Amino acid sequence: MRIILLGPPGAGKGTQAKSLALKLGAPHISTGDLLRKNVKEGTGLGIKAKDYMERGALVPDELVAQMLIVRFSQPDVKTGFILDGYPRNMSQAGVLEGILKQNNMSIDLVVSLDSSEPVIIQRLSGRLVCSKCGENFHAVNMPPLKQGLCDKCGSKLYQRADDKEETIRKRLAVYANETAPLLEYYQARNLLHHIPADGPAETVLNQIIVLARQKQ
Ligand code: AP5
Repeated sequence: MRIILLGPPGAGKGTQAKSLALKLGAPHISTGDLLRKNVKEGTGLGIKAKDYMERGALVPDELVAQMLIVRFSQPDVKTGFILDGYPRNMSQAGVLEGILKQNNMSIDLVVSLDSSEPVIIQRLSGRLVCSKCGENFHAVNMPPLKQGLCDKCGSKLYQRADDKEETIRKRLAVYANETAPLLEYYQARNLLHHIPADGPAETVLNQIIVLARQKQ
């Protein structure tokens, strides 16, 4: 199963993609996670991407495309994937089509997680991320069992540099201007389904799974 998750920052793409990956046995590919890994490791890509990410702007298309091409060359992608954070604009949609064509693949389902601004601000301002394994928590909605520590691996949790209210608003504007036009693009290809995403994570997950099963 090949799924793209679209939606504004904080809609729950990462949370849902991780659960879906487990349920459907397909890898979760998050361009945000891949970029943060590069920043953490201080790679050439990470050094170039860091400033864009901290400002809430998109990292230049050619940098992200290179990274994605490398990821798609790995064998686990053959079984399918849950793509989270890519494409982010029309040009990236074209790059993705090219990569898929080269690998004889096509997208089965595009899900737009539709979330409202007050919910997004509440979620992102309380988000906590594991510094080692990347697991997501929320100070109120999904608190860790031990304060400040990851339930999975026990490492320290941190707040993302781009989760300040001012940067969240910038990211929302980038989504509206650059990413939202993709909804029409995938609607025209009969791939798009909208799911209300302000409710509990489990309710959202169950709705995506129903859609995914219909496509299998
Ligand atoms: P990226 O990491 O992709 O961030 P984003 O799209 O802004 O999305 P988020 O990760 O903030 O939110 P999410 O929808 O995944 O929500 P989550 O599940 O975490 O990108 C970051 C930056 O990298 C970009 O700004 C850009 O600079 C760069 N970048 C990435 N991809 C790029 C690309 N293709 N091109 C160019 N640049 C790129 O949930 C949020 C919180 O809410 C968590 O605390 C979670 O526990 C909680 N939560 C989730 N769902 C629920 C629920 N249903 N109920 C209650 N709480 C919930």
